[in-house]
Formats: sequence, C-alpha cells, structure tokens
Amino acid sequence: MKKQNILEELETLAKKIEYYDRLYYMEDSPSISDAEYDKLRLRNAELEKQYPDLIRENSPSRRVGSKITSKFSKVEHKIPMLSLGNAFSKDDVQAFIDKTRRFLNVDNSYELEIIAEPKIDGLSATIIYEKGKLVLGATRGDGKQGENITENINTISSIPQSLVGNFPDILEIRGEIFMKNSEFDLLNSIREKNFLPTFSNPRNAAAGSVRQLDFKVTKSRNLEFFAYGWGNISNSIGSSLIDIRNNIKKYGFNVNEPFKLCKNIDDMISFYEDVYRDRPNLDYDIDGIVYKLNNTNLYDRLGTTEHSPRYAISHKFPAEKGLSKLKSVSFQVGRTGAITPVAEINAVTIGGVRIKRASLHNKDEIARLGIKIGDTISIQRAGDVIPQIINFVPKMRPSNAIDIEFPEYCPCCKSKLYRDDGDAIIRCMNSHNCEMQLKGQLIHFVSRNAFNIDGLGEKQIIDLYDLNIIKKPSDIFVLTESFADDLRNKILALPGWGKLSMSNLINSINKSKTQYLDKLLYGLGIRHLGQGTSKLIAKNFKDPSAFVNIINNLHLTTNQNDFEEELKSINGVGYKVINALLDYFDKNKEEFNKLISYLTIQNFPNNDQNHFLSGKKMVFTGRFENLSRNEIKIKAENIGAIISSQISSKTDFLVVGSDPGSKLKKAKELNIKIINEVEFLGYF
Ligand code: IVH
Repeated sequence: MKKQNILEELETLAKKIEYYDRLYYMEDSPSISDAEYDKLRLRNAELEKQYPDLIRENSPSRRVGSKITSKFSKVEHKIPMLSLGNAFSKDDVQAFIDKTRRFLNVDNSYELEIIAEPKIDGLSATIIYEKGKLVLGATRGDGKQGENITENINTISSIPQSLVGNFPDILEIRGEIFMKNSEFDLLNSIREKNFLPTFSNPRNAAAGSVRQLDFKVTKSRNLEFFAYGWGNISNSIGSSLIDIRNNIKKYGFNVNEPFKLCKNIDDMISFYEDVYRDRPNLDYDIDGIVYKLNNTNLYDRLGTTEHSPRYAISHKFPAEKGLSKLKSVSFQVGRTGAITPVAEINAVTIGGVRIKRASLHNKDEIARLGIKIGDTISIQRAGDVIPQIINFVPKMRPSNAIDIEFPEYCPCCKSKLYRDDGDAIIRCMNSHNCEMQLKGQLIHFVSRNAFNIDGLGEKQIIDLYDLNIIKKPSDIFVLTESFADDLRNKILALPGWGKLSMSNLINSINKSKTQYLDKLLYGLGIRHLGQGTSKLIAKNFKDPSAFVNIINNLHLTTNQNDFEEELKSINGVGYKVINALLDYFDKNKEEFNKLISYLTIQNFPNNDQNHFLSGKKMVFTGRFENLSRNEIKIKAENIGAIISSQISSKTDFLVVGSDPGSKLKKAKELNIKIINEVEFLGYF
C-alpha cells in the first residue's frame, strides 16, 4: 500500500474513532455495535504496528475513550443519593404500608398520610445553595460520589441561580433533570437533518445533554428540572412534605404536579390510575407514581436500606411490551458457575430501547414458559429492569419449532453440571479452572462496589486474561511492581492503550491497595457473601488484621471453632455464609495470602465515632414498647453499634424488653451490662 493511502486511512480511522467515542462517552448514545467499533480500533493498531513511523500525534491508540468522562471533577455527596424500592401491584403497595406500620410499631388505627406524585423518567441531580446562591450542581453518580456539572446546571432555566424568600444558609435541593417530549422530537429532527445519530429516548438525550463539556450545548438543549427532595440543610424547611413542597416552590423551583395527599390505599391507587390514564397527554415521560410519607419526622426513624429510603416507594406503570421471535438460546456461565440461559431474539424496540436478548433465568423458567426455538414471543421491559419473556403465541408456532436443550456439560469448560437440591440454578462446579467463571470473578473483583479499579473493565480484564497477564486478583497488583516492565509493555502494545491510560491504571490499582475489609470480602466473590453480609462481618471484626490472622491460622482447629462462634454471633450471618467462608479460605489460602501481601486493610468506617455506643457489641431480647425491634436495631447500627444475635463474653450490652428469654439469664451469668428500652433510648 502507498504511504499516502496509509496516512489517509489512519486519519479517517482517527476521526471515526473520535466521533464514536464522543457519542458513547459524552452523549450516552452509541451508534455502532461494540464489534464494529473494535474493528476500527483493531485496524488502526494493525496499521500502526506495520508502519510505526506513521503513528499520528493524536492517534486513538494514545488515549482510551473513558478518559473523556473524567473531565468532570468528582463530588462526594454528604448525604447519599439513594434510589427507590419498586411496587408493581396494589398488593405490593399494601405490603409497603404494612411494613411501614410494623416498623413504627403502630397498628391499623394509626393513619399514615401519604403524598403521591408522578415519577419523572430523567436523571437525578443535586444542587447546593449557600446563603441563597447556587454554588454546586452534581449528578447522582454511584450515589456516594457524583460529577460536578455546575456550569451545565447553571444553564437550566428552571433551576434558580438565587433563591427567593426565607431559606436556610445551606440548602441542598434534589430533583430530576429531564427533557420534554416536544423538545426531544425537535432535537432529533435537527440531528437527523445534520446526519448526526439520534437519541433513543428523552432520558438518554437529557443525560447526554447535561454531561456536555461545552455548557453552551447543554443550554441549547432546553432541559427542565423538578425538585422532589432535599439533602444537607442547615435548618429545617418544614415538618410535613406538603409544607416542604410549598417552601421549595417559594424558593423558586418547580415541584412535581399533580400531587395528592392520600389517607388510605384506595386514595393512592385512584391517583395512580388517574395519572396513568392522563400519561399520554403529558409532555414528559413518567414511569410510575412515587408515594412518600407526609410526616417527615418519621423519615429518620424509618431510616434507609443500602439502596433506598423506607419512607417512600415507587409504584411502576405496567411494563411496555413487544413481539419478537426466539432465534436461539445461548448459555452463559456466571462468576459463581450459575448457568443462565439467554434468549437471542430478533431485535425489537420496546419503550425506546433496542432489545436483542432476554434472560430466561433458569431451566424451570424455560419449562414454565414452554417456549421453543422459532416461537413468536411476547417481551416486556419495565424501566431499568432486564427484559422479560412473558409467553409465546401458540397460534404462531412453526411446525419446525425446536425444543430448548439445557446442556449437561459446561459450555465453557465442558465439566459436568450440577443442581443442588431445592436450587433452581444449575451450576458448573469447576470454579478454579472454568475460564468464564474466572473472568467473571475478576470482573467482579475490580467492579465499582468491590475494588473499584478505574481503567479495568470487562473488556480489559478479558484481554489481559487471554494474554495470561491477569489470571487471578493478585496478578492485578503485580502490574504495579517495578520488575513488571515486560507485562506493562505487553499491555501497551494492545489497541486502545497508551502511556497515559497505563499510568492512570497503575495509579488506580495503587489507590485500591488501601481497602476496607468489607470490600475485600465482597470482592473475593465468596458465595452467599453479598455487600450487606460482608459489611456485617467487617463491622464485627473491629481489627481487620485480627481477621486476616485468623484466616491464616484456620488450619488450627481451635481457631476454626472460635472463628465459627464469632461468625455465628453476628446477627444476619447464618451457617450457609459460614460454610462458604470456611470453604473459600480452605481452598484459596495461597492466593489470599498473596493478595493480602499487597493490601493495607482498613477498619470499617464507623458512622459516629464519638457516640457512646459506637463499636459496642449489643444484643436485644424481649418485646419493646415504643419502637419496633427492627427500628431499635437500625437506630443502634446507625451510630456504629454492632448487633449480635447471641450473648457471649464479648457482648457489651444486653437491651431487655418485656418477656425476655434465656438471653437475660446468660447475660447475668457472664456479668454483662443490662439496660432497658428507656435507658437505651436515653443514649440518643
Ligand atoms: S423521591 C431516595 N420523587 O426516581 C430518592 N424520586 O428510582 C428519593 N424520581 O433516584 C426520591 N421522580 O431520581 C422521588 N417524584 C419523585 C421522583 C423521583 C423521579 C427519581 C429519582 C430517584 C429515582 C428512583
């Protein structure tokens, strides 16, 4: 090939890749498949390898796309930005009300006032005002940390730059940024005329528009904002939600309309139905109704779960449906060996999203549906939920429809598959050698809620695994060693990697070496150890190095017994978890030790180090008068106390209600401090 031709091809490739990167990373609107994109990058790498003297100054191989996303600086949310639990039926809504009453220890005669309002399908944002002036706007991000988008927020006309009236010195307002349907249609028609790819739905368009590096682009997109809540505030802004809604309006915001003050479930459901009926007339997308308690004094009492507050729930509108054809079924091997059948279907657009695949969950689900390959199937998609196959159309079954055969051997490593009694899941048990499991475990290890290593995503892990560079978690840390030049050079030779992305990666691996015990436990991917259980265990072992020591000496029977006893005493940790932990450390001792040698394990962060009960081990027994058991436990946990289910010599306090059981006797024998409910509440 002539030199000039190669130069031209490299230039075209650079332009194309930059263009698709921008769509993907900044507009949240990819327009080609991953495979097509990879082809471009591969071709670029091929040419550069063959003609190193022609490598462009701004070659795509010298940067990875995701770098662009980090142009926004990070913002820690003082109060986490959570999500909402979902209800899909009247029964689910009733269950929410019952649970709330049980939590508050009140019976049916206690009237719970509920505010119902539409749930806007946009993206959440938080805006901080100091002395009435807008000082910061941020995205939700992962809920704990978002991106600073103040400049862009400043261009949204329904977000006031200065507040009006009587507002607290510090006021954080939370709400939803969205794009009206009419604006969305207009934007897409202009983009079409200019041969630009269109956005798939208003939500994506809004998301792409706020994350523009050039705030003038955001301004041109005419976004809107509804305020629905608050975060950190220096003074109260009202004691009921109605009151707060009114105040927020007075400060200069739009709040969600219409809304209704409901006194019972029938009020709630009739509002839901009214709004659902009116949905087509609205100029913005709503995907359900949010119900929230009107009495905001109860919000603290109810607290939150890991993901959502207990004072609210969203009642989703029925899922959108579409018809497609089942082309084939593939079988994926997850990181725990679970085999998931995946329906490969003819691409279909449902609710603005193109769907090519749907999970069939497990063997029983295939049998329940009774579907065959070749069937016409009905698919539904509810918001962010994975698409579901609901049924097939019997009349349309072709005569040559084929039964779905569930494999007997792992599609990856070919070992025999097993199904535990009472378990719907069929598994590959070859966790140490099955490549798909090992890759899945590594992807889990680096994921956001575990080690959170920026620059190592699914694609990179797969590439580096295939090159024999990362086969197990400890290999990741080898990359930071001074002797690992060879390995780093091998990576640098891959398409998409450059000096900068490599140095960013090494920095983020180094950063992840200081890690909390719960993230380590969760990252190891031990069965039955989710984020919650990992946290419970980490909290219980006040000194993480003691935990690591125990693990290293687990071969001594006495240690194993002590360890089991200690684990058993943790409220929420059962035998399944304990067995899984012991089994894991028995089989992975060598790798664990190697991994640990790179890490500095930190103690679990205590919510309130100064509280008298912080770090104290507490056991509760008997019936309580004022608060429900659950509420008391959560109150204690919120200030950093450790809740155990059994009395042991390590227990600091037993809190007794009426009709206590054998725990009281045992506590007396062991000389443990015993307090009653009122004394306990006195500490708050
Ligand atoms: S209340 C803890 N009210 O829905 C968050 N959220 O699926 C309390 N949303 O993250 C949220 N409209 O971004 C609330 N009227 C509304 C809402 C609303 C939309 C979003 C919000 C939240 C998400 C949860």
